[in-house]
Amino acid sequence: MVKRDRITITIDGRRRKAERGQSILEVAREAAIEIPTLCYHESLTPWGSCRLCVVEASQHGRTRVVASCVTPAEDGMVIKTNTQRIRDIRRMIITLLLARCPGLAILKNYANEFGIKRIPFEKGDEDCFLCGMCVRACSEIVGIGAIGFAHRGAKTEVEPPFGFASSACIGCGTCTTICPARTLTLEKVFARQTMHRGKDQIVGRCVVCETYYSGA
Ligand code: SF4
Ligand code: FES
Repeated sequence: MVKRDRITITIDGRRRKAERGQSILEVAREAAIEIPTLCYHESLTPWGSCRLCVVEASQHGRTRVVASCVTPAEDGMVIKTNTQRIRDIRRMIITLLLARCPGLAILKNYANEFGIKRIPFEKGDEDCFLCGMCVRACSEIVGIGAIGFAHRGAKTEVEPPFGFASSACIGCGTCTTICPARTLTLEKVFARQTMHRGKDQIVGRCVVCETYYSGA
């Protein structure tokens, strides 16, 4: 039997045993400590893009603010998950994301939870906050990689590679199921399934040969 390497950390004042290599988020969840996330899914490789899961981690006399989903817990670490500093960072992240995607329910719910009443930035009309779950699910769970990120900066979008229709897509809908924004949807149109992001069809099924394809 393989002997697991155990470590001890202190999280929100509670001493916890953990396996070496476990992330701070995993240890927190085992201890029933709630840390908000937007880009984490237990079935996918952690990505660390939204930063909503930040916590304060102290070790060797130094305190850092780290993303708990991609930071391994280390022996002797002292973690604080809900300090004023952390709450302020999370409020700013949700405020910025809401400015980008003002219509998304998941962000509005977090705004209510964090008491955000005002967005002091110019509002956009995006419906995707680029968590990357759909892209990772297509690649890691389905094993296909029919969609990915295209463009840069504020213009970044989820698209099929190079913006061209991809014959690799099998129309399984895994990306639509996993999308926390409910941005990607699978709809029945004339008994054929098509996948949409907002108003844009990104996956459809050829009416002649019935092969699924994706296209922005
Ligand atoms: S479409 Fe949904 S799952 Fe994909 S990156 Fe945007 S918010 Fe995340
Ligand atoms: S949940 Fe950790 S960075 Fe998004």
